[in-house]
Amino acid sequence: MKYICSNCGAQFPKWSGKCSACGQWGSLEKFEEITEISRVNSGEPASYKPITDINKKTSNKYASNNRLSTSFSELDRVLGGGFVEGEIVLISGEPGVGKSTLLLQVAANLIIQNKDILYVCGEESQSQLYSRLERVGGGKSSSKFRKLSITDNTDVDAVSKLINKKHFDLVIVDSIQSMSSQLSRSFVGSVSQVRISGTILTRTAKQSGTPIIVVGQINKMGDVAGPKILEHIVDCVLNIEGEKFNQYRIVRGMKNRYGSTNEIGVFEMSSKGLIEVLNPSLVFLEDNHKVSGSAIGAVLQGSRVVFVEVQALVSEREEGGFTGPLRRVANGIKRPRLDMLCAVISRRGGCFLGNKDVYVNVVGGLNISDPALDLAICAAIKSASRDKILNKSTIYFGEIGLTGEVRGSWGSESVLKESGRVGYKNAIVGRAKIKGAKGLEIKKISYLKQL
Ligand SMILES: Nc1ncnc2c1ncn2[C@@H]1O[C@H](COP(=O)(O)OP(=O)(O)O)[C@@H](O)[C@H]1O
Ligand SMILES: [Mg+2]
Ligand SMILES: [Zn+2]
Repeated sequence: MKYICSNCGAQFPKWSGKCSACGQWGSLEKFEEITEISRVNSGEPASYKPITDINKKTSNKYASNNRLSTSFSELDRVLGGGFVEGEIVLISGEPGVGKSTLLLQVAANLIIQNKDILYVCGEESQSQLYSRLERVGGGKSSSKFRKLSITDNTDVDAVSKLINKKHFDLVIVDSIQSMSSQLSRSFVGSVSQVRISGTILTRTAKQSGTPIIVVGQINKMGDVAGPKILEHIVDCVLNIEGEKFNQYRIVRGMKNRYGSTNEIGVFEMSSKGLIEVLNPSLVFLEDNHKVSGSAIGAVLQGSRVVFVEVQALVSEREEGGFTGPLRRVANGIKRPRLDMLCAVISRRGGCFLGNKDVYVNVVGGLNISDPALDLAICAAIKSASRDKILNKSTIYFGEIGLTGEVRGSWGSESVLKESGRVGYKNAIVGRAKIKGAKGLEIKKISYLKQL
């Protein structure tokens, strides 16, 4: 008997109230492995053949480039050009972020190209799904929609048989948490069921050559078996990010066996569904009045440059006032990175933060782990601390080291080119060999103190 954490997937021989790997409470679940070892030696041995016997032509399902395009270039790029034959893709995201909407739109795009799609509808009612298709698929047109088949059968074994029997061009399983197999006696949505369903669907995708997309709900409470458990089984993991009160949705490639993982696709939520934002470099900026504590950073997200506003608030503790631990609150960047930057600014950046609370927010809901944003974060913090307004036509780009040095970051050439193109006037960057860009005045600094 094993126990597995539904939040992070760590395994333990014993149950405990708290997962020692991720710190989540009450997330350990009993996990039964399907082991019928007695049967292992009774079947036929595996067959094999020289690799040259493989006929490449027969696996050429998607014509010239071997990819099934979604007709969304923002999504195709994150996938690495579209779906690959037999690929299994996990789409994760919090409830309401737009997973079902996006996939239904992909289905609507594909049925126009005469593709056969199966939608396994385990989350909402079939009539709800139909009215949503009318909303996002361009009005009532029942004849056009006939190529989209739907089932509410959530028995993964039955669905798998159907996929093997009738070759669909694409199958959408919404969601993996609603599927279950008779091989497991655990309840629907448990780690065992999610894992078995994911494994069966993966095998089905490989056997039938049909690409399968599975939706995985992320639940902050950790009470639903998380998509983490499936990450190593599937070929590709896409996460949809977005904030409730912001219309932008970012599809981010977290893992991809058939493409690069740093790509993002940007969409805007509307009443007709998600709309592609084909030139998103400026959408994460806020048109605000001039205040201190705001700096604009540039980051590379896959093959594209995105500008983001970093906002900081620095508040000094009054002498003799509240003496709890200092607050370092980070939104859109990792908290340890903020701690490190605050320490460097204090010790080597000429701006003491040891008695100050620091809050940092990346506007627009983007999560950024690229250290090239360091310089913009430091600029926003120093600006807030000294109450000095920064020039809105300046971008910051550079990584900060522990000694307070500012390094030029990878990708600076395309960042500077794009900065000039969209109309920025100045760039403050780390010291590195850099080609200039049209209309952009570049200032190189070696140490944070110079900022
Ligand atoms: N009838 C509707 N009209 C306008 N917007 C809607 C409608 N139904 C859903 N939405 C919007 O679509 C968003 C995404 O929903 P959905 O695709 O079901 O999310 P998920 O599948 O990720 O849980 C919802 O948060 C809501 O804002
Ligand atoms: Mg949904
Ligand atoms: Zn855990």
